[in-house]
Amino acid sequence: MTGMNSFDNKSFLARIRGGDFAHPGEEDAIDLVLSHVGPAPGETVLDAGCGLGATADAIGRKAGASVVGVDLDADTVGYANSRYPDRRFVAGDITKLGELGLPAVDVIYAFNSLYACDDLEACFAAFREGANARARIAVFDYIAYDAGALAEADCLPPSVHSMAEMRQAPELQGWTCTGIVNLDQEYIGWYGRFLARMDENREALGAARSSAFFDEVRKKYADMRLCLERGVLGGALHTYVLAS
Ligand SMILES: C[S@@+](CC[C@H](N)C(=O)[O-])C[C@H]1O[C@@H](n2cnc3c(N)ncnc32)[C@H](O)[C@@H]1O
Repeated sequence: MTGMNSFDNKSFLARIRGGDFAHPGEEDAIDLVLSHVGPAPGETVLDAGCGLGATADAIGRKAGASVVGVDLDADTVGYANSRYPDRRFVAGDITKLGELGLPAVDVIYAFNSLYACDDLEACFAAFREGANARARIAVFDYIAYDAGALAEADCLPPSVHSMAEMRQAPELQGWTCTGIVNLDQEYIGWYGRFLARMDENREALGAARSSAFFDEVRKKYADMRLCLERGVLGGALHTYVLAS
């Protein structure tokens, strides 16, 4: 099975999650992140790797901020623009933000999107170029604790970053880490909830695509939960501020 980041696959996951989210914890995770890094009313926000748009919309609603979402996948962006017309979504690569002509932002959120980017330093370089002075970043994402075992499990791309990479790459690009919240246990719980929802809705989900597809997705997520339980994979919120 290829990755889950195509429009059709993200739509399938959104059905399971009960909203247009493609990160563990759905709205609970957004509330958690906002409790650590919240935009002041009127501040401008970038949702980097925004997916189907519900995260950007929730941030805009909860914080009263003006949010722009950027995602590589044009189909996803087209959907987000039609589904959440109060927000703006732009197709593009977050490592090449400068080419998109967006206004500078005060806060950048990345919900389970940087794990899919090989070049983490390029992400933080682009974030620096697209940010106002004293901008903040919140990265909510997987953490690779054992890259070899994770590659063997083959449930996520090899680009999932380690704790060391999450410290070094931003620092090299002028971002100071202001906090790390360990979410390993939360990720285990959220993946358990996800699998339970799959099982409760097996018939409808199988009918929406095919039962073979359902089984493949279920296996992938069960493997991810196993990696989380074994300490091969984890989750964390990293927060950064642009050093002055
Ligand atoms: C797992 S989904 C998460 C989507 C969304 N943040 C959410 O929480 O619902 C990862 C998203 O990151 C996007 N993505 C990956 N690499 C990207 C890049 N270099 N530039 C822009 N988007 C990227 C993918 O297209 C995908 O929609």
